[in-house]
Amino acid sequence: MSSIRTLAIIKPDSVRSKNAGKILSMIEESGLKVEAMRMFCLTRELAGEFYAVHREKPFYEELLDFMTSGPCIALTLAGENAITRWRELMGATNPEAAAPGTIRKLYGTSVQFNACHGSDAPETAREEVAFFFSGAELPKS
Ligand code: CMP
Repeated sequence: MSSIRTLAIIKPDSVRSKNAGKILSMIEESGLKVEAMRMFCLTRELAGEFYAVHREKPFYEELLDFMTSGPCIALTLAGENAITRWRELMGATNPEAAAPGTIRKLYGTSVQFNACHGSDAPETAREEVAFFFSGAELPKS
């Protein structure tokens, strides 16, 4: 068991469809702690860097179109097993396969427009948190 920090993104589809507040409530009700939050529009360059691991995938350019299509909200979440808990709350990448009651099942509309993002492992979480937040913005642990 470890108290750890993870990165969450409420994606442009959720902001556009006014589901951001509902998703924030689900996060708070889950017991995960919201430590820091920023709302902004990603540039194509930043979106490309963030999703560089998918550069060779056929959906990469469409993913960048989507992630730069409007504002998104990046958050750091903390708590015991935060990475796993946030991934469980999000549900499977493809909303069709996501469990009932998960964010992606409720608010995602396709494998691309899937409402939110979460880091998948401790090293990725450290990198993704640092991508959007400076140490000065985060609580001292
Ligand atoms: P995310 O968890 O942010 O990680 C990569 C993103 O790429 C994913 O959510 C989806 O938004 C998108 N994605 C993953 N697989 C596909 C796919 N098969 N087709 C289109 N977009 C995808």
